[in-house]
Amino acid sequence: MIREALRLYKGKARLVRSAAQGDPVSRVLNLPRGRAGYDRYEDIRAAGDLVRGPSGLYMTASHALCGKVLRSSDFGAVPTTVSKRTLRPVGGGAGRLVHPLDDSFASIDPPEHGRLRKIVAPAFTPQAMRAQEEFVTGVVSEELERLAGQSTVDLIGEFAVRVPSRVICEMLGMPVADHELFVRWGIEFGAIVDGARTPGEVRRTRKLLTEMASYFSDLCDRRAADPGEDLVSRMVRATEAGEMSREGLVATCEALLIGGFVTTANIIGNAVVGLFDEPVQHQRFLADPAGLAATLVEETLRLDAPAQYGVRIVRAPTTLAGRDLAAGSPIVTLLAGANRDPEVFTDPHRLDLTRPNPHDHLSFAAGIHYCIGASLARLEGRIALQALFTRYPDLRIAGRVRYCPSRVIRGPAHLPVRT
Ligand code: HEM
Repeated sequence: MIREALRLYKGKARLVRSAAQGDPVSRVLNLPRGRAGYDRYEDIRAAGDLVRGPSGLYMTASHALCGKVLRSSDFGAVPTTVSKRTLRPVGGGAGRLVHPLDDSFASIDPPEHGRLRKIVAPAFTPQAMRAQEEFVTGVVSEELERLAGQSTVDLIGEFAVRVPSRVICEMLGMPVADHELFVRWGIEFGAIVDGARTPGEVRRTRKLLTEMASYFSDLCDRRAADPGEDLVSRMVRATEAGEMSREGLVATCEALLIGGFVTTANIIGNAVVGLFDEPVQHQRFLADPAGLAATLVEETLRLDAPAQYGVRIVRAPTTLAGRDLAAGSPIVTLLAGANRDPEVFTDPHRLDLTRPNPHDHLSFAAGIHYCIGASLARLEGRIALQALFTRYPDLRIAGRVRYCPSRVIRGPAHLPVRT
């Protein structure tokens, strides 16, 4: 235990030291949680297309290179957990804790990846999304009605999180009454998703993973006994048919719940902040919310990627951007940096609803791991933003905006507004 704590502290001290010495890769990895990293992504861009940090980790903010890495089978998925010891069960015992990303298809390479992804994919087809439209519209208008008459309200807690959380709960067949619990999990997960680096973070990670696994294990047992038409029941059936492991089942439930609302809420929060930063665009949007809502969603995704970066690993020795890379080398694809690449987007640091190509962003990644929930997130974002500004055209920010305490997840955690 003490050896493990020492190892973690030494790793962190090395990172802090190289960041203080100005290494651009370490400066990104050492970003304080909740602070925007855009200036540091520009330092990476200035240092080259592919930049190597002192520990051998590579980083890129180039749109072309991020796209190449994400689409090429030379690079594989990699577990988010920095140390396997993080996944030891609380209080000792055999086995290890299930992790929503490391144990679901999000971190698995082909051919296993495609086989597992196919089990849940039918719930996210364009046809399935069209069937959700009416439900989402109903949820949005109920939630907007709740805001009426309140003087100052936290738009994130009272609206942006509630809409996608109610929708994903419905899809998974989960009790929306446990919403507060899910919101807490979302915040806690955002803080540890880039790996636990101190003994305190390891403890918090273990506690969170234990709590989530116990919740979903019970839920899956209940669905096995009393199946329905929901997505959890579908995955339970696949597990019973031997197509999915029990760990995979629990992890995929967790990934869909957390992935289903945390990042989507950030489209809404980031769009509102983005519009108030750009009064001309704000007025443009107010003049035509129905016509511009889909564009606002894309431009917000581009400007403020809710998942700022991803990681891949070199599967076999290869060459990239003129560098020879050894197998096992990790590469951080700075999606939020690629989205501001001046080679692809003019005046990239501004929100611009007249931009010709906002959808060229990489916020949902690319290639085989392209976000399975992208159409759902787009649908929810479009309906929510159109309805919000139509119902409350005088919406104003009414206090300090606080951001999620995360390096990866980017979006307000608290956004006080007056309707
Ligand atoms: C704004 C909203 C969202 C953003 C920005 C986002 C972002 C991403 C990104 C960047 C990836 C790729 C990760 C990688 O390549 O390593 C991903 C994958 C994934 N997302 Fe999303 N996501 C969003 C919404 C959703 C929703 C609504 C769901 C589920 C209901 C979801 C579930 C997943 C899953 C399961 C994967 C793994 C896909 C695979 O590996 O094949 N996401 N997401």
